[in-house]
Amino acid sequence: MDDTPQSHPPSSSQECHAPTTTRRHVLEISTAALGGAGACALAVPFLNSLRGTQTAIQQAEEESALLDVDVSDLTPGAQKNVIWRHWPVSIQRRTPQMQEALKSAELLRQLRDPYSKARQQPLDAANLYRSLNPEYGVFITVCTHLGCIPTMHDIPGLPSSGGFFCPCHGSQFDGAGRVLQNMPAPYNLPVPPLFFLTSTKLRLGMSKADPHFDINTIQQI
Ligand code: FES
Repeated sequence: MDDTPQSHPPSSSQECHAPTTTRRHVLEISTAALGGAGACALAVPFLNSLRGTQTAIQQAEEESALLDVDVSDLTPGAQKNVIWRHWPVSIQRRTPQMQEALKSAELLRQLRDPYSKARQQPLDAANLYRSLNPEYGVFITVCTHLGCIPTMHDIPGLPSSGGFFCPCHGSQFDGAGRVLQNMPAPYNLPVPPLFFLTSTKLRLGMSKADPHFDINTIQQI
């Protein structure tokens, strides 16, 4: 019997072992590479769609900040209410007498800020009418005291300019949204930025004369 250790040929499984390991590494590397490439390939459209979504949201926000209002149905002395950026907005069409009353010395003496010194309006509304066009008064009807909604009401005993009365604590405002002295409300009613698209159609949300006016930066709303 020959005790000499036999040199056995490698089994078929041994033959395949080393090459299999190598292939697996190659496969792992390839898979990782493909996975990375796939992730990158997926990430690009995802980022693009995210950017698209952000742009769409931004566009929607900008569009919602603009509101066109047709005032052709307003007769002199009448008003209409709209909602702009979740705030109630009153649009009055003034009679010539109402426009005159807004300049009356008797009225101006009674007002806390008759010349609109406080930044409660865009520059083109910092005048005696607090409006771009004296025929139309446009105000955010949120009381500058504690935020109640004033209703249209003339100020008794003063020239009739239109006006607002706050039912919560009695603040009174004239037809230009200017608060009387000694009232709980500290500031005039805010005027939103706007301009006229036509003589009877206005656009809320942008002032051409004061394009950087931001309603969120006013003294008080
Ligand atoms: S909330 Fe208008 S007077 Fe107080």
